[in-house]
Amino acid sequence: MAIRKVVKIGESSLRKKSKPVKDFDEDLWQLLDDMKTTMYENDGMGLAAPQVGVLRRAVIVEVNNVFIELVNPEITARKGEDIEEEGCLSVGAFRGRVVRPYEITVKAFDRFGYPFTITCEKWLARCICHEVDHLDGVLFVDKSLDKNKYLKQGGVL
Ligand code: NI
Repeated sequence: MAIRKVVKIGESSLRKKSKPVKDFDEDLWQLLDDMKTTMYENDGMGLAAPQVGVLRRAVIVEVNNVFIELVNPEITARKGEDIEEEGCLSVGAFRGRVVRPYEITVKAFDRFGYPFTITCEKWLARCICHEVDHLDGVLFVDKSLDKNKYLKQGGVL
């Protein structure tokens, strides 16, 4: 397992749409393992493959000691609303409020290609929404209620 370099906001690859994972092979397992090491190294709650420069639809999250890998995730239901501050390893120190669904249902595949569905709420739901946004080139600052504050501080998009 290796620590990979985290792509920072302002780099164009972070804004690209990631492609679905087709092969559930050693390359994917290595990627997921490296993402976990990289997330722990940076004290993150989640990481998406494009954040380590790989434009494939794979994310990891860890909330309250529950670690989940989601390959080709698709959010199929959203319920309620919740506002909390978020940060991002690609953005740096800035934290800002984002409105997210309180509860989501997400369909995904595990690293071996087996499909699963989970319904979760609050922080786990928030974290998955944040990471899935990365797969479409969307960053939390784009939709933050504090976007103007971020821009005034000299933040780039
Ligand atoms: Ni992020």
